[in-house]
Parts: sequence; C-alpha cells; structure tokens
Amino acid sequence: MQTNLFIRKRGGRGFTPAFPLLALYDPVLRLLTRERGWRSALLARLAPAAGERIIDAGCGTGTLLAEIGGAAPGAQLIGLDPDRRILVRAEAKLKRARVVATMHQGYLRDLDRLVASESAAKIVSSLVFHQVSLDEKRDGLSAMFNALAPGGMLLVADYGLQRGVIMRTLFRLVQLTDGFADTQPNADGILPVLMQETGFTEVAEADVFATVTGSISIYSARKPTDR
Ligand SMILES: C[S@@+](CC[C@H](N)C(=O)[O-])C[C@H]1O[C@@H](n2cnc3c(N)ncnc32)[C@H](O)[C@@H]1O
Repeated sequence: MQTNLFIRKRGGRGFTPAFPLLALYDPVLRLLTRERGWRSALLARLAPAAGERIIDAGCGTGTLLAEIGGAAPGAQLIGLDPDRRILVRAEAKLKRARVVATMHQGYLRDLDRLVASESAAKIVSSLVFHQVSLDEKRDGLSAMFNALAPGGMLLVADYGLQRGVIMRTLFRLVQLTDGFADTQPNADGILPVLMQETGFTEVAEADVFATVTGSISIYSARKPTDR
C-alpha cells in the first residue's frame, strides 16, 4: 500500500481522490494552479464544435465539461471518472450549467471499452496523469488511442516536465500529497514520450504555465488518419 501525506491511495479505492474534502476541491484548485489560465488555453486548443463526440477522461467535478458544453452546445459530451462521489458533484454542476453529458464510472484504461460503439473526435484530460501509476499512464493512453477516430485529437493538461530548481521545489507539495511513484515520471517529462510510444503523431508541449505548485503543461497529439 502506498501511503501519502494526506491520503491512502490504495486503501480499497484503487485511485487517488481529487481532494480529501471534495467540497474544497474547486476553490483549492483555483488557488493553487492558476486554473483560469490553463483551462482557457485548453478550451481554446480543443475548439469544440456542435456534433463532435468529446470525452473528458478523469472529469472530476465536471468544470471542463461545463465549459465545453457552454462553448459548443450540441457537442456530444462524455465524462469518465472512477470516483462515484465526484461524479455526483459533476452531475449537479452540469445540471446547473444546463449542459448534457453522459457520465461513466471507470478508469482511463476503460475508455475504449466504454466508447466501443462510436469513436470520439477529441479526448481531453486534465490533472489526472500525475495521479496514476506508470502502467495506468500507458494503458490509459492506449485506451485513448483506441477510442479516438482516425485523425482525432488528444489534449492533456497536467504537471509535466518541471524545469529548474524553483518549479521542481514547488512541485514537491503535489508529490507529498499524491506520492512520488506516480508523480515523478511526469516531472521527468515522460508524457510526450509515452504518447509517441502509443502511436500518436504531432506530439507537442503546446503551453506551459508556471504555478505555485509547479508547472502545468498542455500536451497535444493526434491519432494518425490511417489507423
Ligand atoms: C486532480 S483531479 C482533476 C479533475 C478534473 N479533470 C479537473 O481538471 O478538475 C483528478 C481526477 O482524476 C480521477 N482519477 C484518478 N485516478 C484515475 C484513473 N486511473 N482514471 C481516471 N480518472 C482517475 C480522480 O477521481 C479525480 O477526479
């Protein structure tokens, strides 16, 4: 069992919860991650359109789904998260925002099974990969690849390569909370490497945001059109 400062990851749950006190998750995130900056950049890159099937993998409290739905009424939205309690919060937030989304309880690695009948145009994931094991990072990317239509877009916003002493030191707060085993590969810059190994093309670190908890990168990639 992996024991972190605030939470016991494997204590019967099999995933790192977003935050021990879920009611505080949204305000804490705003404070610690310069959320407005990276979320609006993510939304701009996603450029959602009506009719597109878009998945938010590890959707948490549904903030991004609500923004996507607001920007593109008529997009077919799907949310996935293993935490039943957070899905309840997400559904309430989406209802308030009058955004319709289909919600699934599951892990990143379950994505292709969930959308087996119809592939997605775009998949987005924010602040999830730093919380999962190396195996889940690989399996999750592979499931995302399978769930995407040929030419489909993947966008991942997360703590990525931590450049320099200041960012690496600030990122320690996240590492003390979420554990070193899952977070260190992200800090060493593994996400774009894994994306390429999975078969994605046009892999790029599109934006980097310095925050008080380390830098958050937006990685973009595409599934080749002939796969
Ligand atoms: C820090 S929160 C981020 C939530 C949301 N994406 C956001 O940007 O606010 C991480 C989320 O990942 C979910 N999660 C943890 N392990 C996961 C896994 N293996 N597959 C999918 N989601 C996972 C957690 O339940 C939590 O909701």
